[in-house]
Amino acid sequence: MKNTYFDLVEQSFYFPQEGFDLKDGYLTFHGVSLKYLIEKYGTPFKLVYLPRIGEQIKRAKNLFNRAIKSSQYKGKYHFCYCTKCNHFHHVVSTALKNDVNLETSSSFDIDLIEKLFIDKELNKSIFIIHNGYKTDEYIQKILRLHSQGFKNSVIVLDSQDELDRLIRIANGKKIKIGIRMAINEEPQSSYYTSRLGVPPDKILDFYENKIKPNANLELKMLHFFVDSGIKDSLYYWGEFQKGVKLYNKLKKVCDTLDSLNLGGGFPIRNHLGFEYDYEYMIKEIINNIKESSVAAGVHEPNIFTEFGKYTVGESGATIFQVLEQKQQNDSELWYMVDNSLMNTIPDAWSIHEKFILLPINKWDHEYDRVSIGGISCDHSDYYNSEDLNQQIVLPTFPKEEKEPLYLGFFHTGAYQDSISGYGGIKHCLIPSPKQVIIDRDEKGNFIDFVYRNEQTVEDMLNILGYSD
Ligand SMILES: Cc1ncc(COP(=O)(O)O)c(C=O)c1O
Repeated sequence: MKNTYFDLVEQSFYFPQEGFDLKDGYLTFHGVSLKYLIEKYGTPFKLVYLPRIGEQIKRAKNLFNRAIKSSQYKGKYHFCYCTKCNHFHHVVSTALKNDVNLETSSSFDIDLIEKLFIDKELNKSIFIIHNGYKTDEYIQKILRLHSQGFKNSVIVLDSQDELDRLIRIANGKKIKIGIRMAINEEPQSSYYTSRLGVPPDKILDFYENKIKPNANLELKMLHFFVDSGIKDSLYYWGEFQKGVKLYNKLKKVCDTLDSLNLGGGFPIRNHLGFEYDYEYMIKEIINNIKESSVAAGVHEPNIFTEFGKYTVGESGATIFQVLEQKQQNDSELWYMVDNSLMNTIPDAWSIHEKFILLPINKWDHEYDRVSIGGISCDHSDYYNSEDLNQQIVLPTFPKEEKEPLYLGFFHTGAYQDSISGYGGIKHCLIPSPKQVIIDRDEKGNFIDFVYRNEQTVEDMLNILGYSD
């Protein structure tokens, strides 16, 4: 009896499942025929399925609002889209059409917001949460937003020194601020306390000594972000409780404080067996905050989230064809694809991120264990394990078969373009620094000159689709 790839998937997972199905033997993604796209555009290509963004936003908002209602929670929920995850105009614009607030991470982000405002894609009452390291330029631009009337812009302090810079540059203007609480990382991390934020044991003194005495500062928000994700684990709930307790203590001495920001970290499906109970986690979050606030006798905070990967991850896919099969020894078969994995899904190489990998065709073929190789010359340009599975299996096919095998990496919509520098964009929109060339002249003296200046806002926004 023939044991097909389809049989294997059907025995191992629920299939078809949300987003994935077969039509006439070819894989569809959210009902879109990948065969049609391959025939139309040829491989390799990346795709973004915009409607998924709206679906994800609506689901999170509904679940939070339902949990708030059922537990008679007194605060409100605000969904922010974290732009660093995917800055492209078509993505941010789609998120804004679904009524989101925004989170920024560097100076160029503010230019992006101003452009969206000029184009009437957002208004001045939107919440804008400013995270990231505050350079003078970033602070100046945030203050520019304030003077234009963006009344809900909140600067989340990443360190105590940042406040001194902010006060100097604001020069007497009133500012809404937040404080980011530094979290302790998971035990397997290579450092203990995150460099991002102010250590929790310093926050109360920081407030009493530096913020409270300054009438121009209004503390609105406590922020913490467990970057390994919002998981139902002892570690997550430990950091979460630390944040909630600190909020309650701070609230008792600070009247203006009214919001708790849980950051990002909502997971997405990275294998077909993924099971995560979003509803349960959200209910637990709301109930835990409520219980803790009631016990401490403080008003329940408004809740902010800054979900990036959750918002856009599942909208993306990267499609390749197998150019060649290489049997390097008895057990190792390589499928060489028509691009570089390091360049298209860099997180797979750098942080061993896993994506859903599926064949587009040949589901009725038998299968074997394979490794995927990219065509760059780098030995790290490969992919050969899945989440919870040390091997990947894909359909086998005779080399002489006319139709190539097509493969898709799915749910690649977050971070991959900025990390790989698509077209010249950069992670968090931090511009490429200037390039200085050094040489020696005929007499042996040093000469130096600038080959390229620092990347400009216009360069970056052009690539991202914000030009006129
Ligand atoms: C401050 C902050 N908020 C939100 C996010 C988004 O995280 P995620 O994409 O995991 O939701 C990040 C990501 O680095 C972040 O640094």
